[in-house]
Amino acid sequence: MAQSKKPVVIVTGASAGIGEAICRRFAEGGYNVVAVARRKERLDALAGELSGKAEVAVVAADVAAPDAATKAVGIAIEQFGRLDCLVNNAGIFKFGAVTDVDDAALDEAIDISLKAPFRFSREALKVMGEGSSVISIGSVWGILAGMAGGSYCALKAGLIGLTQSIAADYGRKGIRANLVAPSVIRTDMTDAFWDTDFFQRSNQEVTPFNRDGTVLDVANAVYFLASDQGAFISGQTLALDGGWSTTKFVAPEALTAERVARS
Ligand SMILES: NC(=O)c1ccc[n+]([C@@H]2O[C@H](COP(=O)([O-])OP(=O)(O)OC[C@H]3O[C@@H](n4cnc5c(N)ncnc54)[C@H](OP(=O)(O)O)[C@@H]3O)[C@@H](O)[C@H]2O)c1
Repeated sequence: MAQSKKPVVIVTGASAGIGEAICRRFAEGGYNVVAVARRKERLDALAGELSGKAEVAVVAADVAAPDAATKAVGIAIEQFGRLDCLVNNAGIFKFGAVTDVDDAALDEAIDISLKAPFRFSREALKVMGEGSSVISIGSVWGILAGMAGGSYCALKAGLIGLTQSIAADYGRKGIRANLVAPSVIRTDMTDAFWDTDFFQRSNQEVTPFNRDGTVLDVANAVYFLASDQGAFISGQTLALDGGWSTTKFVAPEALTAERVARS
């Protein structure tokens, strides 16, 4: 198969939310896409939607399966003959402080949120060349722990280590690695608690910027980091949070709300 003229990106967790938006952004920007997730019907629908802009190879796989990365990278090479960017996006989130996380939940979280990005990076790095990059979706909860973040905070912090270690070892080959760390973005992952008082108080009222972040904000940041515009940026964690993690802002409505006495 002849090599694709267009650059090629693998996006994990491409069937919904942030991953779907990243696929759209890269297709818009001239990439062909390898879209990975379990829900094949959603990936097929995305491939249909993007067909006028990009070729989308659908890989219906559980990223926790040990052979998922080999399969996805194999398809990128078979179908397109090149791999320019890997976006480690697939992830799960469950509230739970450390003592609330049993071994089964811990293993599931580690398999999806840390082992899979590690394996996908390893297989991608074997075929990537000069100008390529690995971008992982972490979280501000990997920089500053959030309440009941248990395994999520630990694993998202682990992704920062993976990113920096790729930057250290593969920079000589002209390969970069970066991580985008969003605060809370409305997707299926966050929909259940988005409108709750807890969420308003713990997130929106301590975010200085005047609107919520969107999946497109995340996709634009990832696309920028992959592009030539970001060509000397490597090993970085880019917080995408409207100022939440760098300020002690508290909205006036939060300051005037009824105060809960400390015991
Ligand atoms: N939303 C936020 O507020 C937020 C904030 C910070 C960071 N993040 C991170 O951003 C990433 C995307 O989150 P999102 O909000 O877009 O979540 P989402 O709407 O729940 O989508 C999750 C995506 O990951 C895929 N996925 C989950 N487990 C998988 C598995 N075992 N194998 C293959 N694919 C799997 C899902 O596809 P299938 O179900 O089809 O497999 C889906 O495409 C995650 O890493 C998340 O931790 C999200």
